[in-house]
Amino acid sequence: MKRILVAAMDQKGGIGYKGKLPWHIPADLKFFKQLTWQHPILMGRKTFESLPKLLPERYHVVVSKSLQPKQNKQLVICQTIESALAFAEHYAKNHQKENIFIIGGRSIFEYFLKNHLLDGMWITHIESVYQSDTFFPAWDKQLWKKTQEVIHPPEGDYPLLRFCYYEPL
Ligand SMILES: NC(=O)c1ccc[n+]([C@@H]2O[C@H](COP(=O)([O-])OP(=O)(O)OC[C@H]3O[C@@H](n4cnc5c(N)ncnc54)[C@H](OP(=O)(O)O)[C@@H]3O)[C@@H](O)[C@H]2O)c1
Repeated sequence: MKRILVAAMDQKGGIGYKGKLPWHIPADLKFFKQLTWQHPILMGRKTFESLPKLLPERYHVVVSKSLQPKQNKQLVICQTIESALAFAEHYAKNHQKENIFIIGGRSIFEYFLKNHLLDGMWITHIESVYQSDTFFPAWDKQLWKKTQEVIHPPEGDYPLLRFCYYEPL
């Protein structure tokens, strides 16, 4: 089973602003939806609270020490990343899923990168700059190889996107 990080960042590494995404880019939301559809998605409490509602057809695994632990068909709230990973992996195994997706935010990305817990990363590079207060953590590009890249050309006011897949060396 693979642990795959999914993130979108602008040219300065910006990923968030005031608890939300700095942008609204339909093509990236569509990419995220297709990738994560019917899979477990692991996230930090702030990212969970930024969602307008539970995302359909996804199993939400949330890490938080401040929220009450909770468990139902679509959601589990865990107090540690270790237990969150165990829930996500158990769900994936029971539903014959190959991947679990690590969807943010910064604190969760940092933990998985620092501890070398990832099997791959899908990063949408957004060829523009947005006002941001949260940035993707520093990552050692020497340790990763880009193995796929799909260019999505600019559409109207929306900038060019590069959907890139990185694998650890
Ligand atoms: N562009 C992207 O790809 C992307 C993706 C996701 C999110 N974002 C953005 O990133 C921002 C949020 O990122 P963030 O780093 O501030 O918040 P976050 O990672 O979403 O959530 C942080 C919270 O998660 C919990 N947590 C983190 N590590 C934990 C651990 N080891 N054990 C237990 N709980 C843990 C804590 O919750 P408690 O305080 O409840 O204990 C912590 O306050 C938002 O602006 C969001 O929109 C961007």
